[in-house]
Amino acid sequence: MAAEYTKDLSTPVLTVDLDKVKRNAKDMRERFEGLGVQLRPHMKTHKTAECADIMTGGSKRCIVVSTLAEASFFADHGYDDILYAYPLPFDKVQRCAELSERLSLFHVLVDNDTALEELKRRPLNKGKVWNVWLKLDCNNGRAGVPNSNPKAQKLAQDIAATPGVELTGIYAHCGNTYVCQGQEQIKAVAQETTTSVLQFMEKLKAVGIQGLKSSIGSTPSCSHPVADMAMLSEVHPGNYVFYDVQQSLIGSCSLEDVAVRVLTRVIGHYPQRNQLLVDCGWTALSHDGGGRLPTGYAIIEGHPELKLLSMTQEHGRVEAISGQLDFTKYPLGSLLSLIPYHACATASMHPLYYIHSNGKILGTWTPTRGW
Ligand SMILES: Cc1ncc(COP(=O)(O)O)c(C=O)c1O
Repeated sequence: MAAEYTKDLSTPVLTVDLDKVKRNAKDMRERFEGLGVQLRPHMKTHKTAECADIMTGGSKRCIVVSTLAEASFFADHGYDDILYAYPLPFDKVQRCAELSERLSLFHVLVDNDTALEELKRRPLNKGKVWNVWLKLDCNNGRAGVPNSNPKAQKLAQDIAATPGVELTGIYAHCGNTYVCQGQEQIKAVAQETTTSVLQFMEKLKAVGIQGLKSSIGSTPSCSHPVADMAMLSEVHPGNYVFYDVQQSLIGSCSLEDVAVRVLTRVIGHYPQRNQLLVDCGWTALSHDGGGRLPTGYAIIEGHPELKLLSMTQEHGRVEAISGQLDFTKYPLGSLLSLIPYHACATASMHPLYYIHSNGKILGTWTPTRGW
């Protein structure tokens, strides 16, 4: 149910519960302080300076970004020690070089020989070296050299042997936790990824490459870490600061922990087809989840009887899960509160987030956009 203090907001709008954000951030920080592992939070979910300050506990150090727009935005906000965790795009080497020369620590990710050649072609000025993390694919199946492929060790050795380049660490993202259901499955993937990375580090030690950092993570694995993760140097989750319906289904969090909502207004009654129309289409709420939830593309807070059936660009169709809608319960102009299936994708569609605490709107956060 939409709260009273939201009644004047123009919809569709993304709202953020500041108290939940602070609690989610604190829980993650404390979890890894307890394990003696550095938390390097990912900024991709919110892309705002305010939320970054909360996630880093005000240190403004040690973050991950997924775009160079984020990297520059956080550098402009006084952040340093920024890891650009994306396979090095060759059109962006010059911008990466400028950030490396500007910041005390800017890290790039490499998973192929050609990327290493590109770095060699642009030596850094100001006495700097490229800080490179080798991206390892431990069964996730997206970016990275498969950990079982001999090319991974060869690439690590080539990076380490290249003048002007430092092999800083090994980065593996266990996105394969997203197909898990429940803590047991999450922990099995976390264990497998941790073991693979640690074994890979041992292989490198055997050929004289030591002192590297290691980083794994995703919101599911970092919400339920295994003890061996204490042997890693860093973890890099991001979504946890907002959480979402997807994370609650995986078992990373409870629905109570989800900090974001999309508010929408009822803009039409269509008794002939037993549907409401709302002013939230796919430009305000991502299509992730494919509408497979019993409640469609989102959970409609306080209305378990409703389903967000479909969305076009600016319209959403809402129907009853069963039986006839009582249209008097949803007057034209009334607000509905949607709990998003995927917070990162949904937040990325909004130019502004409204922040609330204790029943009051406190202000807005403005995210950076683009690449
Ligand atoms: C490379 C990389 N690192 C870290 C993360 C953060 O993981 P999560 O969104 O599960 O918190 C992501 C998320 O997609 C990612 O792609």
